[in-house]
Parts: sequence; structure tokens; C-alpha cells
Amino acid sequence: MSNQLEKVQELIELRAQARLGGGQKAIDKQHEKGKYTARERIAQLLDEGSFEELDMFVRHRCTNFGQEKKSFLGDGVVTGYGTIEGRLVYVFAQDFTVFGGSLSETMALKICKVMDMAMKMGAPCIGLNDSGGARIQEGINALAGYAEIFQRNIMASGVIPQISAILGPCAGGAVYSPALTDFTIMAKGISYMFLTGPKVVKTVTGEDVTQEALGGAEVHSVKSGVAHFAAENGEEALAIIRKLISYIPQNNLEEAPLVPCNDPIDRLEDSLNEIIPDSPNRPYDMYEVIGAIIDNGEFLEVQRDYAKNIIIGFARFNGQSVGIVANQPKYLAGVLDSNASRKAARFVRFCDAFNIPIVSLVDVPGFLPGTGQEYNGVILHGAKLLYAYGEATVPKVTITLRKSYGGSHIVMSCKQLRGDMNYAWPTAEIAVMGGAGAVEVLYAKEAKEAPDPAKFMAEKEAEYTKLFANPYNAAKYGYIDDVIEPRNTRFRIIRALQQLQTKKLTNPAKKHGNIPL
Ligand code: HXC
Repeated sequence: MSNQLEKVQELIELRAQARLGGGQKAIDKQHEKGKYTARERIAQLLDEGSFEELDMFVRHRCTNFGQEKKSFLGDGVVTGYGTIEGRLVYVFAQDFTVFGGSLSETMALKICKVMDMAMKMGAPCIGLNDSGGARIQEGINALAGYAEIFQRNIMASGVIPQISAILGPCAGGAVYSPALTDFTIMAKGISYMFLTGPKVVKTVTGEDVTQEALGGAEVHSVKSGVAHFAAENGEEALAIIRKLISYIPQNNLEEAPLVPCNDPIDRLEDSLNEIIPDSPNRPYDMYEVIGAIIDNGEFLEVQRDYAKNIIIGFARFNGQSVGIVANQPKYLAGVLDSNASRKAARFVRFCDAFNIPIVSLVDVPGFLPGTGQEYNGVILHGAKLLYAYGEATVPKVTITLRKSYGGSHIVMSCKQLRGDMNYAWPTAEIAVMGGAGAVEVLYAKEAKEAPDPAKFMAEKEAEYTKLFANPYNAAKYGYIDDVIEPRNTRFRIIRALQQLQTKKLTNPAKKHGNIPL
């Protein structure tokens, strides 16, 4: 064999060795847990054959605790680039078979390299996380590595989309980077996120808790709101990323891809003319409205199980990607509370950062009153949504279906918050508050003196409702651009979005605003 052939052979063998990560035994262990390896995951995520791997020969440099005797090619993370539906993306996938995917100095350098390339090329960066956090043997160097990654997450925020899948137990630094990215996807039964694992929790607080109860997919998709999606398994988590990517642009200077639309733009949806119940206290399902108006009923919902009183997600109108924000009257009457406000605010800001128009569907009775909310800082959380809508310069189309009362009317993309096209259904009620509450404030004294207080109040309420519980009072002042027939909502939104394609609006130059965090 010639020298050259020998060297080629050596390369082939080294590559084969690198592909084994922490070794066959560790790979088998990973499979036994129902998990895929880093390379298998990348293959599932990207278009077939599109992956180009980088830094396969990197090894860690640590000599503490005899680490020099134990090192692996690639050092616990697989990095590189490839395509999703032909569009460039950068990716890193932590390899749990090598030191539990824990982060070393060199692993951080590998991750930072693809993050820098993603920024330079203006393409999304996707992290597949499966990591025990900072590699304990490396001490401060591992921490410094995390800080380098976080700094890049922060600089990339609002410039390129950043997406994190959690595909194993992720602890410590391994959860802060995902928290800084735009979307976090967990997989049920295999993924956990916590700052410190159950053992440390037990030591510090005495609390006995399982990984699942501390930071499983259910916890973070229902209770904490940390996760945006909870997939049934790892494969579905990766499929969600592919879908998500289809709705968003490559970077903040581009538009989301336009897809061919075969759903007629002037499709009339007669059911919408009868969807609002006669009684204002009876709910209907906002999902039915969303499904009826968007292209082919295809909706990628974000944070489906968290703060269900507001619905957020991606859809298309005539092939154009939009962010939908909709109150859900079927859950807590669609009231705005702290969690719903935070949920929607972050989504509105994502859409605005990445040039995705926002369509808001409004049916909101107000903010949830009471000590529970006030102690929780609902003033600040509600202000986040107010700020997000007011700051957004992307096209904003608002449809008021029914209730739109008080502060929540203002917050939900009203005209004065630079709503571009504000339409209302004839069933809209746009006022300071509902009839019963209003007459209670205005007529409590007179009612006491009336011969029949209940009758008196009922009459006053009817009077108030007639005057204010309609869209025409707001339309009279131009706060509503038009009152539309519900069945024609799809067409009117598409027309509005078409008109707004050349919208130009910029905010005053500043270092950055001070959103009420
Ligand atoms: C070095 C680690 C490691 C770590 C796991 N391993 N975590 N090695 N540093 N942080 C190694 C284990 O020693 C083991 O090696 C292999 O990875 C697999 O781990 P297991 O414990 O066998 O797996 P499992 O039972 O599935 O448990 C996974 C785990 C647990 C829940 C992640 O390993 C764990 O609790 N790790 C520590 C988590 C933690 O507290 N991290 C915080 C770090 S501090 P062998 O050789 O036996 O296969 C941090 C600070 C950054 O991240 C803060 C920034 C803000």
C-alpha cells in the first residue's frame, strides 16, 4: 500500500472511530433508554445527505482527574451544517455517550464556531441538547465555555432564529442556552430541564423529587411555560423543528418563505356567521375560527398547553406566513392574566423581530382581577404585551369578534397601538367594561332608592349595552376600520395583508428599550 493510500486508510478509520462517539456500549445504552445518538438525530432533522460535519477530530485538553487518559474524537458534540427543505441551517447535537454530553472547553469552542458561522451566513442555528451541564472535571473552563455560548445566544437573538430541542436530561448550563433561544422543544419521557438535578435538590432543600416531576416535558409545557412544544418522542421533536423552520425566515433581513396556496382566498365560511352564542357568557371555541380562516386549516400552535386562555401559533394566509394571537373564550372566558400576557408578548416580539405579520383575534372580557394576579405582578406582565404590540412594526391586522373591554381592548393590538387594519364583527362589544359591572359603578346609589332596585339595574344595563355593546360606537370614531361579515373574514385578512406588504414603519433610534421584565 502506498504512503498516500495508508494515510487515506487512517483517515477512514479515524472517521469511523469518531462516528462511534463514546463507543458501542454507550450507544447501546442510549438506545435502551429510547434515545437516538447525536448523529442519528441530525440525520432525522436534516434533508437526506445534506449534513457536512465540522471539527470531527477535536479532543478535550483537560488533564484534571486523569482526563488525559480518557478522550474521544469530537468530544461530545457533533457540529456542522445542512439543509431543511433546501434551506441552510447550522446544527450542533450533544452526544450523551461522551461524558454524558457534558460541556468542555473544546466542546464550547465547537458550538461557538457553528453559532458564529450561522450569524455570518444569516441562517438559523439549531441545538439538539442532551447534556449533564458543565463538565465537572474541567471546572472554570467549562463555565467559561458556557458563558461564550450564552453571549453568542444573546447577540444572535433577533438576528437569526435559534431553536433548541431537549432530548435528554439537561442540567445547569445546558438549560440556560435553550432559555435564551427562541423556541424550546421537549420530548415526553426522555427529556428533562432543571438548573440542578434531584440529588442536589434533596441536599439543599430536603425535597424528594423525581426528574420527571422536577423538569419533565409536562412540567415545562404546562406549568412553567419554559418549553414551547412537548413532542411525543424524539423523532416528533425533530419533525416539529422542520415544520417550524418552514414558517420563519432565515434571518431578520429576510421574509418567511412564501408557499403556493391552493385554498381559495375568497372562500366564504358560512359557519362563522353563526358561531357567536346569543348569551355573552357562553363560550365558543376559537380554534374553530382559526381553522376556518387560515390556509387549509394548518396551524402550528406554540405553547398549546400553557396559559390556554390565549392561543399563539403560526399559520398562512394565501401562502404568507403569519403569527396568530387569539383569546380563547372557551378557557377562563379568554381573560388576560400574567401567564397569558407573557406568553403572547414573547411571541409578538419573535414575529416582529423576524418580519412575520401578526393577526390578532380578539374576544377578551378584561384582565383577571384579584390578589393572586396582583401579587404575581400582572401589572408588569400585562405591560409586556402592551409594550410588545406597541413596539411591533410588522403588519398588524386585528379582528374583534366579540368582547373587547377596558385595558385588554387596548392591549390586544388596538388602533392606537399602531394596529394597521382593525376590523370588527357585528357581534363586537368594544367598551370600557361589561354592562353589569358598568351599571354597578354608575348607578349603585340610585338603585338603592329605586322602588324595584333589580328592575332599575336591569333597565340601566340594557341601556348601557345598547349604547356600548356594539362595534359601531368605535367605528364612529375610526377606531375600527370596518365592520365585516364574519364569513368573509379570511378574504378581508388576505386583502389587508396584501395591502400591507410594502408597510414601512421604524421606531426611534435607541440603544434598546426597557420592556417591563
Ligand atoms: C462530567 C458527567 C456530567 C458532568 C454526567 N456525566 N454529567 N461528567 N460532568 N456534568 C457523566 C457521568 O459521570 C456518566 O459517566 C455519564 O456522564 C452518564 O451519566 P449518568 O449519571 O450515568 O446518566 P443518567 O443516570 O442518565 O443521569 C444523567 C444526569 C446526571 C441527570 C445528567 O448525570 C447528573 O445529574 N449529572 C450532573 C448534573 C448537574 O448537576 N450538572 C450541573 C453542572 S453545573 P460514565 O463514565 O459513568 O458513563 C453547570 C453550571 C453552569 O452546568 C451554569 C451556567 C449558568
